[in-house]
Amino acid sequence: MIKPPLKWAGGKRWLVSHLAPIWERHKERRYVEPFCGGLAVALGLQPRRSLLNDVNPHLINFYRHLQAGLKLRIEMRNDEQLFYRHRDRFNKLISNGGATSEEAAQLFYYLNRTCFNGLCRFNKSGEFNVPFGTYATINYDADFSGYPAVLQQWSFSNVDVEKVALEKGDFVYADPPYDVEFTTYSSGGFSWEDQKRTAESLAKHDGPVVMSNQATPRIVDLYQRLGFELTYLPGPRRISCTGDRTAAREVLAIK
Ligand SMILES: C[S@@+](CC[C@H](N)C(=O)[O-])C[C@H]1O[C@@H](n2cnc3c(N)ncnc32)[C@H](O)[C@@H]1O
Repeated sequence: MIKPPLKWAGGKRWLVSHLAPIWERHKERRYVEPFCGGLAVALGLQPRRSLLNDVNPHLINFYRHLQAGLKLRIEMRNDEQLFYRHRDRFNKLISNGGATSEEAAQLFYYLNRTCFNGLCRFNKSGEFNVPFGTYATINYDADFSGYPAVLQQWSFSNVDVEKVALEKGDFVYADPPYDVEFTTYSSGGFSWEDQKRTAESLAKHDGPVVMSNQATPRIVDLYQRLGFELTYLPGPRRISCTGDRTAAREVLAIK
């Protein structure tokens, strides 16, 4: 299995063994992920034909260059001064129309490896603003030569979930940002309204759909009402702030 090239929050590598038997029944279809994130699932299932979408334009730019044989030529070191120089250069490219360049893809990789917790956050003017990380050592795995062959027949798009160019019969695996209850504000920019419109557009799709999320009561209710079949799984282990290891329940909604 080829490794996801980036650190990405909410990676579903652990779900691949649960999704594989479902995908196996549909593997002649085109595989579509509206929220592809770190590509953990697509790289795990390795569909032949695929459309991978994410609203983050820099992520998609990185994958497009990876597909075309990205090579890292910029200086890569876990050094605070170099980090802020590279971050400034990346932000200059964004503001000067260079966001889709190969240099931006290289810088995105460096920032992802080097910044605090591998986060990807932007300020109101669209500038990447995550500070320098606190890693003792970083492995800048600069060899991307295995990716072009795997990504060859995949296409990438960078639109909102509702604008993804679905075709009749596509197999859709949707992994929206987790629903976090008891917040009126949106978590990671994805609100309850966004969860609802995602669910409604998935319900309308004419083809198999699998959606994963945290099994909050309102997510369970939403997908049940839309006629999905639900399966519960223990989520990945987390360490809570009190130190006890709890596994939040995860739900797969299948149609
Ligand atoms: C939980 S992550 C997906 C993780 C992925 N399944 C993996 O295993 O790496 C959710 C992704 O949804 C993307 N996203 C957020 N809002 C979106 C929207 N409105 N349309 C499309 N993608 C969106 C985020 O950029 C993020 O990468």
